[in-house]
Amino acid sequence: MSLISFGSRVFRSYYLHVLGRRGCSTAAFMPESAGFDGVSSRSALHEFSVSNSETFWAALARHRLSWMSPFHTVHDCDLSRGRIRWFEGGKLNVSVNCLDRHVQTCPEKVALIWEKDEPGSEVKVTYRQLLEMTCRLGNLLRRRGVKKGDCVTIYMPPCPLAVASMLACARIGAAHNVVFAGFSADSLSERIRDAQSSIVITVNQGVRGGKLTQLKKTVDTAVQSCPNVRHVFVSMRTENPVAMTERDVDMEEEMLKEDAVCEPAAMDSEDVLFMLYTSGSTGKPKGLVHTQAGYLLYAAVTHRYVFGYSDGDVFGCVADIGWITGHSYAVYGPLANGGTTVLFESTPIYPDPGRYWEMVQRLKINQFYGAPTAIRLLLKYGDQWVQKYDRSSLKTLGTVGEPINTEAWQWYYSVVGGERCPVVDTWWQTETGGICIAPRPSEPDAEIIPGMAMRPFFGIKPVLMDSKGKVLTSNDANGALCIAQPWPGMARTIHNDHERFKDTYCQQYPGYFSTGDGAHRSKDGYYQITGRLDDVINVSGHRIGTAEIEDVVNQCPEVAESAVVGYSHDIKGEGVYAFAVLKKSVEAEEGVLSKQLKDLVSQKIAKYASPDCIQFVERLPKTRSGKIMRRVLRKIVEGDTSGLGDLSTVDDPAVIQEIIQSHDKHF
Ligand code: WTA
Repeated sequence: MSLISFGSRVFRSYYLHVLGRRGCSTAAFMPESAGFDGVSSRSALHEFSVSNSETFWAALARHRLSWMSPFHTVHDCDLSRGRIRWFEGGKLNVSVNCLDRHVQTCPEKVALIWEKDEPGSEVKVTYRQLLEMTCRLGNLLRRRGVKKGDCVTIYMPPCPLAVASMLACARIGAAHNVVFAGFSADSLSERIRDAQSSIVITVNQGVRGGKLTQLKKTVDTAVQSCPNVRHVFVSMRTENPVAMTERDVDMEEEMLKEDAVCEPAAMDSEDVLFMLYTSGSTGKPKGLVHTQAGYLLYAAVTHRYVFGYSDGDVFGCVADIGWITGHSYAVYGPLANGGTTVLFESTPIYPDPGRYWEMVQRLKINQFYGAPTAIRLLLKYGDQWVQKYDRSSLKTLGTVGEPINTEAWQWYYSVVGGERCPVVDTWWQTETGGICIAPRPSEPDAEIIPGMAMRPFFGIKPVLMDSKGKVLTSNDANGALCIAQPWPGMARTIHNDHERFKDTYCQQYPGYFSTGDGAHRSKDGYYQITGRLDDVINVSGHRIGTAEIEDVVNQCPEVAESAVVGYSHDIKGEGVYAFAVLKKSVEAEEGVLSKQLKDLVSQKIAKYASPDCIQFVERLPKTRSGKIMRRVLRKIVEGDTSGLGDLSTVDDPAVIQEIIQSHDKHF
C-alpha cells in the first residue's frame, strides 16, 4: 500500500517546534480543549478524551451546545446492561441549537442548498427562512394533535420541507421516524405501525433522475393497514395534483395559516430525538433510538473535526436523508455548526456522469461526502467527466457505508481531488450516530493509507476481540470490532425492544459495544474494516475478509466491481466465490480473465484466498442505499434460491433473477 502524506514539511516543523512547545497547538485546533492539562498534540488529545471522558465531553457540550438548564451528570452508563445516559439534568431544544442561535448572529446565511434533480435549479434557504418554516410546521403539528413524546413518520426525498419537518418535531418534543422514500408501501407501513405514528408527512410526487415517483400513492396504500394514522400531510413537490381525502392535509396551505413563532419545548438530554429503522442480520428491521443532547453534540463535533469544516464552507453530503448519513451529515451536524449544507435530490449519473463535479463547481462545495459504490460507478465512465469541471473549491473528500477498494480510493484522491484533498474513509453505523473511525482528525500532515479508516475519533476506544471473547492487545491482529466505552452519539435502545438491543450490542462481549464488523489493526495500530462479520470467510482454517478479496479483484483494469461470498466446500470448509462486473467496453475472453483474476488474488493476498469460481455478471444485487447484498449471492451459490430471505430492501429484483439464470447455466 502506498503512503500518502499531506501538508508541507516546513509547516510541520514550525507547528511542532513553535506552536507545539507553547502548548497552544491543540487549543488553536479545538478551542474547547484550552483548559486540558498537558495536552500538546492531537494524538495526546485523543488519549485525554478517552481517559478523561467526563472532562472532555463536558467541555465540548458546554462549548458547542446552547442549554436551557445545565446538566449535572456528564455520563451514567453501564454498557453490560445497555444503560447509556449522557448529560442528565440538562435541558435543551435541538431546533434552537440548529436554528435560533444562528438566526441571532447571521439570519441571512444560507442554511440549505436544495440541489434539485435538474442541474442549475437549486434553491437556497437561509437560517431565518428555515426557522420560519420549522415554526409554522411545529404549530401545525401541534394543532393536529401531536404531543411531546409522539412519533411522526416522514416519507420524503431530501428537500427543505423534509428538514423543516425533522426540526419541527424536535421543536415540539416529538420524535421523528424518517423512512427512505424508496421503500415500498409494505415496508413503510411496517415502520409506521412499529413507531405508532399518527401523522405521516410526504410529498405528492418525488423527482429523481428525470423520473417521477408516486410517493403519496405509496403512502395511501401503506396507511390502509395503519389504523392509528389520523393525518397525512402532503407537500407539493411537483404541480401535478393528487387525490386528497378527508385525512389528508395540504401542508403548504395550512402552514401559511400558522404563526411564524413557535415556543420550543424544553427537552431532557435523554428524551428521544428520532428513531431510524435499519436491518439486522435476522428478524424485522429495528428502530434504533437516538436521543437529544448526546447525538447532536456528537454529530456536530465529528462534522467539524473529521472533515475540517470551517465557518463559511459549503458541505456536500449526497446521502439521502432517509439514512443515518443524511441525518448526521446533511442535517444535524452541519446545522448545529451553523453551516451551509447541500440536500441532493438526484443521482450521480443524471443527467450524465459529470453531475457531482458540475455541482461541486456550481455550488463551490468544500467538503464532498459520498459512497464508494458511486465512486466505483463513476470511475467506469472515465476521467473526462471529472476533468471538465473546476473542483478547486474542494478541501476534503469523504466516503462511507462500505469498504472503499484501493482503485476507487486512488481515483477519488488523484482524479477527483487532484492529489490535493485528504480522503477520509469514515467508518460508523446507524447505531453509532456519528463517525467513529476516520483518518482525520490527526496531526495536520499525518499519513493516510488508502482504504483504511485508520484512527478512532475523540472519545472512541476501539478494541478487537478474538473468537473466545478475549481482547487482542497486540497490533497486526484481526478480530471483532468492539468499542470499549460509551460515547455521547451512540444509540440508546431499539424502539420497543430493549432486550434485542442488549442481546445484539451489549451482551455478545459483556461490557463492550459490539459492532458486528470485523477489523484488522495494522502493525502501526491503524484500523481497517474487513466487513460484516458474517462476510468473513474461513478457507482451510484461514480467515479472509470478502472485502480484501474484492479489493484485489477490483484492481484488475477490466473489472468495474465485484462481490465475494463464501460457500460450503467439502475439503476446505468454505470456498471463495467471486461475482465480477466487467467495465463497459471490455472484450476479454472470460476463461482467460478468470485465470488472470485467480492469479492476481494468489499473488496479492495468498493462494488460499484465490476464488474457486468466478461468475461474470452484468450487475450486482444492491440495497437501495447501494450496499451489495452478499447474503443473497451466498444463497444463490448454495443453490438455496427458495430461501433468499427478506428482499424488501433490494433495489432491482430483476438482477437477482438474472444472476440465478446465469448461475444455473454455467455452474
Ligand atoms: C459498513 C452507515 C467499511 C459497516 C453510516 C457498518 C463500512 C455498516 C464503512 C453500517 C467504512 C460503514 N468501511 N465498512 N468506511 N462505513 N460501513 O448503519 O459494515 O447504514 O457496520 O451506517 O456499513 O451501515 P449503516
